[in-house]
Amino acid sequence: MKIAVLPGDGIGPEIVAQAVKVLNALNLEISMTEAPIGGAGYEVAGDPLPDATLQLAKDADAVLLGAVGDWKYDKLERHLRPERGLLRIRKELNLFANLRPALLYPELASASTLKPEVVSGLDIMIVRELTGDIYFGQPRGISTLENGEREGVNTMRYNESEIRRIGRVAFDIAMKRNKKVCSVDKANVLEATELWRQVMIELSAEYPEVELSHMYVDNAAMQLIRAPKQFDVMVTGNIFGDILSDEASMLTGSIGMLPSASLDANNKGMYEPSHGSAPDLAGKNVANPLATILSAAMMLRYTFNDEANAQRIESAVKKALALGFRTPDIWTEGTNKVGCAEMGDAVVASL
Ligand code: IPM
Ligand code: MG
Repeated sequence: MKIAVLPGDGIGPEIVAQAVKVLNALNLEISMTEAPIGGAGYEVAGDPLPDATLQLAKDADAVLLGAVGDWKYDKLERHLRPERGLLRIRKELNLFANLRPALLYPELASASTLKPEVVSGLDIMIVRELTGDIYFGQPRGISTLENGEREGVNTMRYNESEIRRIGRVAFDIAMKRNKKVCSVDKANVLEATELWRQVMIELSAEYPEVELSHMYVDNAAMQLIRAPKQFDVMVTGNIFGDILSDEASMLTGSIGMLPSASLDANNKGMYEPSHGSAPDLAGKNVANPLATILSAAMMLRYTFNDEANAQRIESAVKKALALGFRTPDIWTEGTNKVGCAEMGDAVVASL
């Protein structure tokens, strides 16, 4: 198993180090090679996705990524900014299917800002399309109109095949779960998502056992807070999925708990926490490494087909939580506040 390890910026290096520690503790035949991405790529190669990093990622079976971004790069031209490295690697590797499971560990019910009875037992899989939509649609840019006023333009667009392939991922996952797919769109206003809904309905004919429902994104945002347990699999486009997955993460106690997998058509994948680089927390040993550790578990499950070791990691995370270990973001009265590295150690000890 060849893994490209891309720590990135901010808290990226510290959380990735914990996931690497956990993977090493499993004594698998893996080779891991590190390379810079994001601001770190810009620093060494003047490019948020250096050629050598992209090549390493292409040659690897899977990519483990920390996070990219730091305010200090916000003034760079857009094509040099850290986020561009992330968006480009997703596109270059064709990682169109982003899986973001929002799962509440019972020990963390009181860490959520929602009432425990609203979130206990929560288990949602958000399937986010990752290589299309307004993130990549042309035309885009900022230009000056004839009257001298500036105009910003982005374009939401989806073609049928893009919708169908992400829909298939969602239906296939639902078949292994509770057989419910909720497709989230804004079909009442946006034609791109009206087509989205039509294609989902067409596709559902191939999955007679799966119950398909549709929800407008504004309502979905509200329902996630009102009654999140109504959802099994949610499938949606790039921008709505970006927003709803951050929202869903808070149901689980902290955005520091939400892993993700981004897969191509052959289950090659990039695995990263759903959260960002949190530059304000960097270097302080306070970040929560569990989303990254759980992303490593997803790597074993989806790319390496190693369900046993994926579950071993997930059980170890559960055990570390049951033993009371908490990073500051999930700390509650009566539990044991530890740093990023100590949380990694607690997971390794629990393996
Ligand atoms: C995410 C992040 C990225 C996105 C940013 C950093 C470009 O928010 O992975 O959810 O918008 O996709
Ligand atoms: Mg996001």
